[in-house]
Amino acid sequence: MRWRVTPAVIGGQTEVPGDKSIAHRALMLASLASGYSRIDRLPSGADVRSTAQCLRRLGADIGIDGDTALVTSTGRLSASQAPLDAGNSGTTMRLLAGILAGQPFTSCLIGDESLSRRPMTRVVEPLNSMGASIHSHDGGAPLEIHGRRLHGIDYTLPVASAQVKSAILLASLFAEGITSVLEPHRSRDHTERMLAALGVEIEVEDLRTTLRGGQAPRAFTTSVPGDLSSAGFLVVAAALSGGEVTIDDVGLNPTRSGLLDVLREMGADVEISDQRQEMGEPVGRLGIGGRIRRPVTVEAAQVPGLVDELPLVVLLATQAPGTSVIRGAAELRVKETDRIATVAASLRRLGADLDEVADGFVIRGPTALRGCNVSSHGDHRLAMLLAVAGAIADGETVVDGVEAADVSFPNFAEVLRSLGGTIEHL
Ligand code: S3P
Repeated sequence: MRWRVTPAVIGGQTEVPGDKSIAHRALMLASLASGYSRIDRLPSGADVRSTAQCLRRLGADIGIDGDTALVTSTGRLSASQAPLDAGNSGTTMRLLAGILAGQPFTSCLIGDESLSRRPMTRVVEPLNSMGASIHSHDGGAPLEIHGRRLHGIDYTLPVASAQVKSAILLASLFAEGITSVLEPHRSRDHTERMLAALGVEIEVEDLRTTLRGGQAPRAFTTSVPGDLSSAGFLVVAAALSGGEVTIDDVGLNPTRSGLLDVLREMGADVEISDQRQEMGEPVGRLGIGGRIRRPVTVEAAQVPGLVDELPLVVLLATQAPGTSVIRGAAELRVKETDRIATVAASLRRLGADLDEVADGFVIRGPTALRGCNVSSHGDHRLAMLLAVAGAIADGETVVDGVEAADVSFPNFAEVLRSLGGTIEHL
């Protein structure tokens, strides 16, 4: 499937689907809790559906009606005869690996072609050192997980990864003794916030998180905040096209909101109002306006806070006068695609002036973008990035492979259109 996009001013008021990271965790924690849990505003993207399907195979009763999930669980999982398919979702595979490492049965986790290429040794190694026996295929999926009695570890993460940190923390619920994880830079902390909100004693001190084994979350009711990573495409489209956009009920967790800091630094107006808390997560209304006037430098310590939004930062930088630099972002090379390569090549086709470096980008702006034919390379975030680029590029941009967007934001094109975007399915 393709989108045809032509220039438009993007503005108005909208909502975005529920946060994917929080939704995965909510489904998993509800399955580990004994009793009935209710999750409202569950996003309908394929990644979250993969998590729900894996958990059903592990014995959780998950009914989804519209955007509400009702989860009934005994708090104990049972073996699945069939392999568990994580689809395109790294979070599903890595977090489930953590949970399954401590179960008294064997499981097999598989994924699609893109996920099968992504590195899994980063979870296999710490989970095996907790006592599990996990075999990977050349460091990737399929993962054959022989659950064992686990023991706590003191582990220093070699890369700042919330997925790896969360896998270890979830495994530690089933481990004897204390587990402590030290991360090089602060990555998203949804697992920690949700566990704490559900009665698990967990201590976070600077970059170290400590948890005592043998605890279980309690059943809960929640409403998933809007996904700031999905909102990112809309706010960047507004900032680049001269519009003003307001997004209601969006997650504003500070470990996720690096894009907002970058937008401010580059000259845009960012306004946050109506803040509240939902299961330990800050939620509020986000407003963006103004203009991009300055370049930006993003360093390694900032990367986890906007790792999924870095492609958008590159696009912003193509329109800022001066040279922008992003470094310490080698993790982008092991996402759904090698996003340093795919983002640089795609934006260059559209006329951007940028260099790809081993761990980031050097971008010179401003450059006028020109519409042309580009491809998502099967990557949801690339599909949406290129649609936003098309909204400011001269002429017509045709993006191929846009079904990839279904993974996180199935109604992206409709939402962009409702904000004035000229985007049509071909
Ligand atoms: C996620 C963590 C990030 C992010 C991914 C979702 C999560 O990955 O890129 O989209 O839900 O924990 P890493 O933590 O591996 O960088």
